[in-house]
Amino acid sequence: MKFDTPATQNPIDQLKVVGQGVDRVDGPLKTTGKAAYAYERHDAVRDAAVGYVLGAAIAKGRIAAMDIEAARRAPGVLAVVTAQNAGKLGKGKMNTATLLGGPDIQHYHQAIALVVAETLEQARAASRLIRVQYERAPGAFDLAAEKDAAEKAGKLAKPDVVGDFEGAYAGAAVHIDHTYRTPDHTHAMMEPHASTAAWEGDALTLWTSNQMIDWGRGDVAKTLGVPKDKVRLISPYIGGGFGGKLFVRADALLAALGARAARRPVKVALARPLIANNTTHRPATIQRIRIGTTEDGKITAIAHESWSGDLPDGKPEEAVQQTRLLYAGANRLTALNLVELDLPEGNAMRAPGEAPGLMALEIAMDEMAEALGLDPVEFRVRNDTQVDPSEPERRFSQRRLVECLRMGAKKFGWQERNARPGSRRDGRWLVGMGVAAAFRNNLVTDSAARVRLDAAGQVIVETDMTDIGTGSYTIIAQTAAEMLGVPLAKVIVRLGDSTFPVSAGSGGQWGANSSTAGVYAACQKLRDAVLAKLGFAAEGAVFADGSVTEASGRTALLRQAASDGELVAEDVLEFGDLDKTYQQSTFGAHFVEVGVDAATGETRIRRMLAVCASGRILNPKTARSQVIGAMTMGIGSALMEELAIDQRAGFFVNHDLASYEVPVHADIPLQEVIFLDETDPMSSPMKAKGVGELGLCGVGAAIANAIYNATGVRVRDYPITLDKLLAGLPEPA
Ligand code: MOS
Repeated sequence: MKFDTPATQNPIDQLKVVGQGVDRVDGPLKTTGKAAYAYERHDAVRDAAVGYVLGAAIAKGRIAAMDIEAARRAPGVLAVVTAQNAGKLGKGKMNTATLLGGPDIQHYHQAIALVVAETLEQARAASRLIRVQYERAPGAFDLAAEKDAAEKAGKLAKPDVVGDFEGAYAGAAVHIDHTYRTPDHTHAMMEPHASTAAWEGDALTLWTSNQMIDWGRGDVAKTLGVPKDKVRLISPYIGGGFGGKLFVRADALLAALGARAARRPVKVALARPLIANNTTHRPATIQRIRIGTTEDGKITAIAHESWSGDLPDGKPEEAVQQTRLLYAGANRLTALNLVELDLPEGNAMRAPGEAPGLMALEIAMDEMAEALGLDPVEFRVRNDTQVDPSEPERRFSQRRLVECLRMGAKKFGWQERNARPGSRRDGRWLVGMGVAAAFRNNLVTDSAARVRLDAAGQVIVETDMTDIGTGSYTIIAQTAAEMLGVPLAKVIVRLGDSTFPVSAGSGGQWGANSSTAGVYAACQKLRDAVLAKLGFAAEGAVFADGSVTEASGRTALLRQAASDGELVAEDVLEFGDLDKTYQQSTFGAHFVEVGVDAATGETRIRRMLAVCASGRILNPKTARSQVIGAMTMGIGSALMEELAIDQRAGFFVNHDLASYEVPVHADIPLQEVIFLDETDPMSSPMKAKGVGELGLCGVGAAIANAIYNATGVRVRDYPITLDKLLAGLPEPA
């Protein structure tokens, strides 16, 4: 099915099942421990040996010599895989560094060996017997220093300019010009990267924890140099991804190589202390923002220039993308500068681009509002735009940012905020409120599904879509139930297997809308097949309550259509150009109240509210869970999260969950989420959009702004830890 004209009335609009806040259909499996994750597929693989990954102890250079003999002879050891004995390996499209290093080393903890043994303890002990001699090469690890060097050398990215930014900025009545910093972040998902591999002849099956089955299948094949149809990926349950599992990592490749070498199935989990340096992370940024306005607060000039680093051939963190679209203003400049760093590989983490970009932009907007003497909500409202400011003929398909801000202000009690910083106290707490806009683009990706109807009236949906804890199983079941007029209990959803039709996968918050649209397309085909089988006219037929009723009034049970054999339909929803004709984005507003301890500078979040406008909400319960999870992540990025870099050795020091801090339950206050009642006919037949990343976008800045309102201390360098506040706190009352 091609989707290239705006959606009209369709069966989803009945909202009998879709749009209901039903419980997760996979909930009982998860809460009873019956959902088998990649490392524990004992049902499928009984005699798996265990692999332990050894990471490089230098950031850059080469392995001069490596002695694996003692490890090979250690008790229980079945094989030791290194780049030297693994045979010729390719590189996946999605990987910047190779997944098995040696002799060249590209980053710290790059995998250099896999020890396969009968038990984890034997494999780990044997890995300690591997002797490696390194030749260390100097590396670049300091973003600020590389930025300065590049600027001195005049190596600047060509900016994207609209109108005359410099002229308009110079001539503006009111200006701000500030630089903001966000640190490196690690995904810190609960389930580590893990895979179990088994070969049958030249065919590989990988039970793995991966967000994008088809990308992964392609990259495994490419890396191993085997045909794609010889690789099967199975990933039904995923204990969190956040972008860290968009791509296959060393666990998958090394499990496959280990299983080949040991002639046994092998399972490999990356040990927690390996993950931060071995896998990808969200890169640190340095962002300069300049805004110029008229006296009455109309933006006439806006510039956002970002710097980030990555390994050679890597990509920049796209921290300026929201600034191209979020606010009006005729004269604009954005630039993405990239320097080479020899730190581990930078890549996507939840809302890549917008998440760190808004952490800067939405503080800048707060600073500008203050410079103008305007309320920060009012300043944002005044600079709303219904068109892409760079291409005024392109409208947003839906844009209700102003409503989000106004409704949020009303519900949150924004009028009680005192604009003068440091003016509200509650005992020892300095209390403040902050606001930020939320913005994230709505991406759409072609998605396919297969739907079966059997003689018992059971509906089975198969697609290689993944559920990374987001609720995919549930919204896909709801979609099929709605389309075929059956109760939710009659639908079984099977996900995450490369033998199923290729879906959009889970990334960039495109999964919910795109994958359900693929299921919608397959269900349309199945409806046609049912009607043909029953000899019913298609025009005006109704599928409801397990029955099909023709316009004439003739009726049959749905299952009768499959009485002499299963009916199967498969289709792909192909997205046309509506996402180019219209700018498709999601919007929101975050409101936060904080208390800052007047003596210690400790910040506690007191209340949070998110108002989101992101198309039809397919399931308000799972969507709300996505948003409150994202808000929680936003607290982490504002107050805690930072990968600390050892600048001499070039690695992330706090590479475990004891020293990389994320919020815990006790850090989380009352969180409220409001969804505007909205449908977007440009997004898909589902009229839905993504929401899982939107919930994070802007949270960090709303907290930073609340801290400023509470204390009068403006911190432009995340995370906002108490040491950055102490010196500026007001004298005790
Ligand atoms: Mo997301 S960072 O595209 O999983």
